[in-house]
Amino acid sequence: MPKPIPCPVIGVLSEMFPDHPYVEYLDGSTEPWTVNVICALVRALAPKLVLETGTFQARTTRRLQAAMGDDATLISLESYTEYWEKAVADCSDLDNVKILNVEAVQYLLNYEGPAFNFVFLDDDHGAEHVGMELDLLLRKEEPLMASHSIICVHDVNGIFGLKPVIEARGGFALNLPILHRSGGLGIIQCSP
Ligand SMILES: C[S@@+](CC[C@H](N)C(=O)[O-])C[C@H]1O[C@@H](n2cnc3c(N)ncnc32)[C@H](O)[C@@H]1O
Repeated sequence: MPKPIPCPVIGVLSEMFPDHPYVEYLDGSTEPWTVNVICALVRALAPKLVLETGTFQARTTRRLQAAMGDDATLISLESYTEYWEKAVADCSDLDNVKILNVEAVQYLLNYEGPAFNFVFLDDDHGAEHVGMELDLLLRKEEPLMASHSIICVHDVNGIFGLKPVIEARGGFALNLPILHRSGGLGIIQCSP
């Protein structure tokens, strides 16, 4: 499999702005206020199976794990081997978290496990890629989302053009302060 190209801002902004109040998030982690919203939804939903695409430094992975119940499982996907290795080591204390070194669309295409109750899409932000992920998750036959589940998508309000991708699938966009080149949160509620 070809090595994926990481987000171009990764590793650059934190060096440019070392004194920024949110410096630890500048390289590509989801803004803490956006993660607060995601975790509030996780707490309200009490999902049994959570999926995150794009682990990166596992900051959101750890927050999701803390928000879900002890009997829940979180699967996080990271295709870039260096980030995957570091994230696995950093999360070795979390029994109910599985971080897999896979490409997200390939993973969804081959997925045969139980339906997901909560999904956070935050890997490749290309509109075509996110559209493919959503169409796999929301497919009518053998859907990958459980009934009354939620999909959140990061960075829907900026340059990636993801807002119409979310709205075309019945979702809406929350306008939250932008830390990177993009921001905001797309939310799709999956009806039974
Ligand atoms: C924006 S960062 C994820 C940030 C993380 N979710 C957080 O909130 O802290 C995107 C990550 O997705 C990974 N990635 C990019 N394309 C991917 C793909 N097709 N499948 C899986 N991971 C991918 C990148 O290597 C990078 O680590």
